[in-house]
This record gives sequence, C-alpha cells and structure tokens, in this order.
Amino acid sequence: MKVKITLIATSLLTSVAFSNLVLADGEKLFQDNVNACWSCHGKDAKTPVLPIYPSLANQKKEYISAQMKDIKSGKRKNGHSVAMQSFMGLLDDKQIDEIAAWIASTAPAKTATAAPKAKEALTGGAKLFQEKTCWSCHGKDAKTPILPIYPNLTGLSKEYILNQMKDIKSGKRANGQSAAMKGVMGLVDDKQIEEIATWLATLK
Ligand code: HEC
Ligand code: HEC
Repeated sequence: MKVKITLIATSLLTSVAFSNLVLADGEKLFQDNVNACWSCHGKDAKTPVLPIYPSLANQKKEYISAQMKDIKSGKRKNGHSVAMQSFMGLLDDKQIDEIAAWIASTAPAKTATAAPKAKEALTGGAKLFQEKTCWSCHGKDAKTPILPIYPNLTGLSKEYILNQMKDIKSGKRANGQSAAMKGVMGLVDDKQIEEIATWLATLK
C-alpha cells in the first residue's frame, strides 16, 4: 500500500513538473489565456486585432525582449502600451526572454532585397527614408537594423508606424534607444512623417 501511494505521489509530481516544463516554453506562454499575448497580437504574432497594435513577427529577440521589459516597468508608456502593461506582471525576465526567442523564431524567411535604386530614382517616402538618414540605423531596406536591439520596420501597419514616429519625435516614447532616433526626427515634418509611414507600410 505504502509503495503504491509513493508511486502515485511520484507520478503526480512528475506530471506537475512536466507540465511546468511545457508551460515554460515561450510559445505556450504566448498562447495561454493568462498572458493573452495572442488576444492582441494574433496567434501567429503578426495579425494584431487593431491596426494601431504592432505585428511582432519580424523583430529580433533582443528588441522584443527589451520592449517587453520596458512596457512591464512603465519605461515605455506611449500610445496603447498601458493596455499591454496589465498583462505583464506575471512574467519574469526569464519567461520574457523565452517568449521573445519564440516570436523571433517565427520570423518569415528572409526574402532577397532588390538592389537599392539610385537616390535620384526614388520618390515619396522611399526617398525621404534615404535622405533623412533613417537607413543609417534601420538599414537601406528598413529590415536590416545595424543592431539587434534596433527594430525592423517591415510588416508594420501605417497607423502603428505613424504613432511611433510622432511619439518618438515628441518624447512621449522615450524608452530604450529612442534618444538615438529623436535627433533625426527634427528633420521631418508631419507631412513627411506621413509619406514615410505610407511607404514603410508597403514593405513586408
Ligand atoms: C491588451 C492588448 C495586449 C496584450 C495582451 C499584449 N500586448 Fe503587446 N502590445 C500591445 C500594444 C497596444 C502595443 C504597442 C503600444 C503602443 O501603442 O506603442 C504592444 C507592444 C508590444 C511590443 C513592442 C513592439 C514594437 O514593435 O515595438 C512587444 C514586443 C509586445 N507587445 C509583445 C507582447 C507579448 C509577448 C505579450 C504577452 C506576454 C503581449 N505583448 C501582450 C498590446 C498588447
Ligand atoms: C540613430 C538611429 C536611428 C535613426 C537615424 C532612426 N531611427 Fe527609428 N528607431 C531607432 C531605435 C533605436 C528605435 C527603437 C527605440 C527603442 O529602443 O525603443 C527606433 C524606432 C523606430 C520606429 C518604431 C518601431 C517599432 O516597432 O515600434 C519607427 C517606425 C522608426 N524608428 C522609424 C524611423 C524613421 C522613419 C526614421 C527616419 C526619419 C528613423 N526611424 C531614424 C533608431 C533610429
């Protein structure tokens, strides 16, 4: 009898430990109903419920993880960040890193980038992106940032891009490395911001 009880207890413990192990997986944390990431960003991390919410799938692990930590701590509080902050309290740094690693692993396969056109051949937002030095941090194709902690700008909606540019310009978004970009935002007015956002939103 004693042996039997021990056996049951052991198998219970094992299954609890096992389910924790499964739960520790970044994808499980993203898809569960407690953290509810999927309910705003989409099950595939790239179909947000509102155009003003970001797609996450094109970003590097380092950037995702840094933004999650800043939204959790309140360092990033621009736009709709507060909607997300209330869901972040249950996650520790290790779990945040695990989720970030999973999201980064869903990144679409790299597509070949067409050779950049000569500056003179570019128009509208594409031209401004090169002229106003955006490319120097985000890459000529807007998806090869010079540091993994800098964002990829492809796969995002116009609404989201527009808001972030305006918030970084005004200082409403001041977390992380935003200061690096703020200086450059003095070079673009609202009309130019709109033109750049319109162009960026066409990039996948
Ligand atoms: C209630 C909706 C909601 C939930 C739940 C939510 N988020 Fe967010 N998330 C947002 C919004 C809105 C933003 C953009 C904030 C802004 O307006 O600047 C954001 C921003 C982000 C960013 C920064 C993206 C970028 O390009 O800068 C990351 C990364 C992120 N969320 C990951 C997650 C993960 C992982 C979870 C689950 C642990 C989660 N979010 C849960 C709404 C949500
Ligand atoms: C000196 C480097 C630098 C330059 C130049 C720069 N950026 Fe950025 N940009 C950044 C960094 C760093 C961030 C992320 C800030 C953070 O750490 O939260 C960012 C964030 C963004 C975001 C928000 C992305 C997201 O997922 O939330 C957009 C959109 C953007 N930049 C567009 C532009 C455009 C357009 C230009 C040119 C007018 C530009 N940037 C110039 C460094 C730069």
